[in-house]
Amino acid sequence: MKNINFIFLSLMWFTLLITGCGKASTNETSADKEAVSAVSSSLVNRADDGRIIVGISMPDQQLERWNRDGAFLKSEFEKYGYEVILSFADNLIDKQISELRNMIDEGVDLVVVSAIDGGTLSSVLDEASQAGVKVIAYDRLLMDTDIVDYYVSFDNYMVGELQARYVIDALKLDASDETRNIEIVTGDPVDNNARYFYNGEMDTLVPYFEKGKLNIVSGQKDFYVTATGTWSTEIAQQRMQIILNSYYKHNRLDAVVCANDSTALGAVNAIRSDYSQDNKVIVTGQDADVENVYNILSGNQSMTVFKALKNEAIVTVDLTRAVLEGDSPDEKLIEESGWDFECRYDTTSYNNGRKNVKSYLLIPKVLDSSNIQKELFDTGYYTYDSDGNIILGE
Ligand code: BGC
Repeated sequence: MKNINFIFLSLMWFTLLITGCGKASTNETSADKEAVSAVSSSLVNRADDGRIIVGISMPDQQLERWNRDGAFLKSEFEKYGYEVILSFADNLIDKQISELRNMIDEGVDLVVVSAIDGGTLSSVLDEASQAGVKVIAYDRLLMDTDIVDYYVSFDNYMVGELQARYVIDALKLDASDETRNIEIVTGDPVDNNARYFYNGEMDTLVPYFEKGKLNIVSGQKDFYVTATGTWSTEIAQQRMQIILNSYYKHNRLDAVVCANDSTALGAVNAIRSDYSQDNKVIVTGQDADVENVYNILSGNQSMTVFKALKNEAIVTVDLTRAVLEGDSPDEKLIEESGWDFECRYDTTSYNNGRKNVKSYLLIPKVLDSSNIQKELFDTGYYTYDSDGNIILGE
């Protein structure tokens, strides 16, 4: 972008002047040298040809949602004539770092990053900042860095609250004194969201543990003990199989609070293979992935928390446009954009260890067999192909 390049150009002239027109002065420190190299490399890297390039760095392609996020973001950006570099890091941190570095080298103006591990990108984000690249954390917060301009996500704490509240209502805990047994399946501990989902669930469930209405027979309650590395279906399934065989041969399992749909698939598979009692086990999820929608329609999964990814992409793109126009967006962006969905501006809930990150938070929604047709099919989000398979709508 022109104005950023102008600043760099001025900075470089200034640097050249004080270093004797490019010759390193004898008492130049290594910090000075780094500064000169940062400035000149940023000049080399910045495109000043009227193109606006946005980098999108997604964590992986295994989970349905990130493919969709990538596609929605790309097409929304392209509507405004932006060039897009889209990459998926296969859940490999080094790959995500090198993809971001390539984007900086390609001259991106802004990167939208959904980190595999929010705490591992600080140094490549420093490089981005030195090159004048703006940074938006997408869905997952970037941790331990000052180099994050904004965060766009859903209200992650509310996701956990909705899952827990669903279990409380489905088991009619408020109308009975019976003790019901539940197990907890948390997400990947290196994903900052996992903690918010967990806190939302636990804060809602704790009063029921205290009243003796809920019990965790395995005793596995803590965040790390219940965590699922990389949100893997297989890891969740294996853990649940062990729990079922160790604790539920004679006890009835009433519910499994799973943080998302990939872990819910694991829990449902384990219940099918290793649970022999005939009660229906309530299983929660998040994302409304296709396989989970099948499971909800067939009664194997009870609910999912739906997050309209297209709206998350729309907020990100409108925010990007404002940032690249040199604005400092705040709650006014919500009014000015005229979105037809709810979004909240929040400056206090997401501290990344360095600062409160200015956030735009969308509102998640509970789906179960009672409203899935209306919310996902009647709206065209999903449709059926000619063989009767669920596919993404237009
Ligand atoms: C996202 C969830 C997703 C999970 C696993 C979280 O950060 O918010 O929607 O299910 O990652 O990819």
